[in-house]
This record gives sequence, C-alpha cells and structure tokens, in this order.
Amino acid sequence: MGDVMGNCRQIAIYSGTANIELAEAIAARLGEPLGRRELRRFPDGETHVQIEQSIRGRDIYIVQPTSPPVNENLVELLIMIDAFHRASAGQITAVLPYYGYARQEKKSTGREPISARLVADLIATAGADRVVAIDLHAPAIQGFFSIWMDHLTAVPILAGYLRTVRSADDVIVAPDTGRVKLADLYARSLGLPLAVLYKRRLGPQQTETGAVVGEVGGRRPIIIDDMISTGTTVQRAVETLLTAGAAPDVIVAATHGLFVDEAVQRLSAPAIKEIIVTDTVHVPATIRAALGRVTVLSVAPLLAETIRRLNRNESISALFGSFPDHHPV
Ligand code: R5P
Repeated sequence: MGDVMGNCRQIAIYSGTANIELAEAIAARLGEPLGRRELRRFPDGETHVQIEQSIRGRDIYIVQPTSPPVNENLVELLIMIDAFHRASAGQITAVLPYYGYARQEKKSTGREPISARLVADLIATAGADRVVAIDLHAPAIQGFFSIWMDHLTAVPILAGYLRTVRSADDVIVAPDTGRVKLADLYARSLGLPLAVLYKRRLGPQQTETGAVVGEVGGRRPIIIDDMISTGTTVQRAVETLLTAGAAPDVIVAATHGLFVDEAVQRLSAPAIKEIIVTDTVHVPATIRAALGRVTVLSVAPLLAETIRRLNRNESISALFGSFPDHHPV
C-alpha cells in the first residue's frame, strides 16, 4: 500500500517452515532476500518466532501454506502474524498458497464446526491485513474474510502445461460432481469433451464411485481435481474409468498435491501415466521419487507478480487476462 506521498512501502518476504523453497523462489523473482527469522519449538511443543531485523512500517508477506502438518503450520502462521503485528509492520499479508481446513466450509450434519470460517477469523484476529490464497476448495471461503482477500487460480498454469500434452482423443474428467465447474473450465480451455463421475463419500478416507456421465470409451482421461490428499478419489476414478472402457493411460492434474496417508501406493496404478500438481504444497523429493511420474509446476511467478502488484496497488485480475470470464468462482 502506498503512503500519503504515493510511495510504495518496502517489501519484505518471510517464510514459515511449510514451504521454504516456494518462498525462496518468490523472493528471488522479486530480487529480495528472504527475511531473517528464527522459528523454534520449546520443549513442550510451543512455537516461538523471533524476527531478526526491524520491519517497522514495511509491507510484509508471510508465505505459509497450511498443509500437513496442518495444525503445526497454522499455529506457526498465526504466531508469525502476531509477531509482525506487534513489531509495527506497515501491512501484513498472509500468503496461503494452500488453505487447509477448506473442506470444512459448511455443516454437512448436525453438531459439526465450520472450521474454514474459524481459521479465517484466527488469521484476521492474529493481525493480518490481507490474505492471498490459490484455488480454494470452496471459493465461497473468500466471504469468510472481512479483511482484504485475493483469490488466485493456478488453472491457467496447469491448463498451459496440459495444452502441450493434450490430444484430440482425450476427455476431461471431473471425479465428482463438486468439481464439474472446474473440469468444465479445463475442457473449454483445452477444447476437449467433459465426463463426470458420481462419487459418494462413505467416510474420511472412503469413497464409492458409481455412474459415468459422458463418453469415455477409448479415450485418454485427464482427471481434474483441486487437490490430491490420500489419493482415494483418483484411485476410485481410475478404476471406474477403466471399467467404462477408457484408455489405460490416465493423466491427473490438481493444484494442490498433499500426498498423505497411502497416497503413493494408491497412485501407483500402472494406468496412471502422469500426475501434474503445483508447488503450492511442498512435494518432498522422496514422494516425487516414489510417485515417479509426477510433474510439479511452480506458482512462484504468479505469487511474485501478485505481491509486486499488491505492493504497487495494481490490478490483480489483470494478471489473468480474459481468464476471469471463465473463473470457477
Ligand atoms: C473433494 O471434494 C476434493 O475435491 C478432492 O477430490 C478430495 O479432497 C481429494 O482427497 P483424496 O485424495 O483423499 O480422495
């Protein structure tokens, strides 16, 4: 934000421990060193942060996806925001490339929390002035914030890659009805037909996939999702598609690759030829090696340009060209 003289506040980029590589890549693109801070745990498990330089009046960006371990990373983010707030930062932006708890955005049954809203309140209460997030599981989470909120999308990055590997015989597949809008966005962007699977969730890690709506016979499926967590959704989708006669060389594309639980085993089906995710969540080298066929595209250029524009009070939607017309929100 500019001051009364119209000058930009000096940017400072900081990182929690969730995805330091991404924060470093963003800082490098902006020509800024990553801010110095010491993060440590007390013997009882409490988090402590010490900012190691004065940040008074500066435009602070804290890069911290609330990816697994979700609670650790969330508390770390909150404590960092509090430290910057109390150190008289000019403005604090929490950059959450991946927003954990987004799947708890409404009550599905009685006596449940709406944790996505609680997290939004915690971030604001800690002292953030703005939040930047990418491909929220439920775009309506934007409305959970009364502070400034910029919702970005990595779809153009993923679609850009898919454009280089697509063929006319491909079919875009939504693995459940909740992803139809998102998958349709890819289908239109890539000029491919769309098929939709019907998925019923039986428990936190148990789903059942039934009907296929659309033509998949003989076609190569490109399964689209916002996130891959345990890999169960993709595993079931692949089984259903193969039973329906789809070609056994499936591509999977999702913004966030969490790869928790037994995701690696679930995604090791020979029919899965390539998994494409972004680096909103850090994908450790061990997971990349175990998966073998994973392509990780970087959102660092998108986030660096977003930060540059926020600092100069420039348009963020202009970043996406004509893309907002098709945004799934
Ligand atoms: C569900 O609505 C989401 O879009 C994903 O399909 C789901 O969260 C992926 O989780 P998992 O990999 O554990 O099936």
